[in-house]
Amino acid sequence: MSRAASPEAFREACAKFATGVAVATVRASDSTPHGLTVSSFTAVSIAPPLILVCIDYACDTLRHFRASTHLGVNVLAQSQRELSVIFAEKPERRFDGVEWYSSASGVPLLRNCLTNLECRISSIVEAGDHAIFLAEVVEVESRDGKPLLYFNRNYRSLGGG
Ligand SMILES: Cc1cc2nc3c(=O)[nH]c(=O)nc-3n(C[C@H](O)[C@H](O)[C@H](O)COP(=O)(O)O)c2cc1C
Repeated sequence: MSRAASPEAFREACAKFATGVAVATVRASDSTPHGLTVSSFTAVSIAPPLILVCIDYACDTLRHFRASTHLGVNVLAQSQRELSVIFAEKPERRFDGVEWYSSASGVPLLRNCLTNLECRISSIVEAGDHAIFLAEVVEVESRDGKPLLYFNRNYRSLGGG
């Protein structure tokens, strides 16, 4: 049955779209690392290699992404659910006790992820209540493993087969 697209109905509809989980990361001008959990990561173009990430205007870390030339995307493995919770819920010092390293451009990248992307921000599109960051991938690292999934507001894992 169709319903008017109230914010609640739209949120519920979006929750039916299963995604992976990533942490978008950035280095602030005072050199502290920042990041937030995102499911909005999408590959946009292969040549050139472009990705996008959507960040809510309400997010505190947004200002660091706006002020930076580069960002990181860290695709979480099934075993890294705790990292997703930290980067979505911990109010501050999210990198404390987390294993990470710096990319060539200084972007903080999380260790043991399925994929780490170092990206140069090419444009920011203002869209409703989110900022869409379009970025060109400059370095890629990926490894085998099962992904962390998010569906219907819950973490899931890939079944066998
Ligand atoms: C699985 C999952 C996916 C999320 N995806 C996004 C997203 O794509 N964009 C976004 O702005 N927030 C997303 N969030 C919410 C942010 O991670 C959360 O608001 C974060 O605490 C913001 O931190 P900040 O206010 O310190 O920037 C997601 C949260 C979870 C648990």
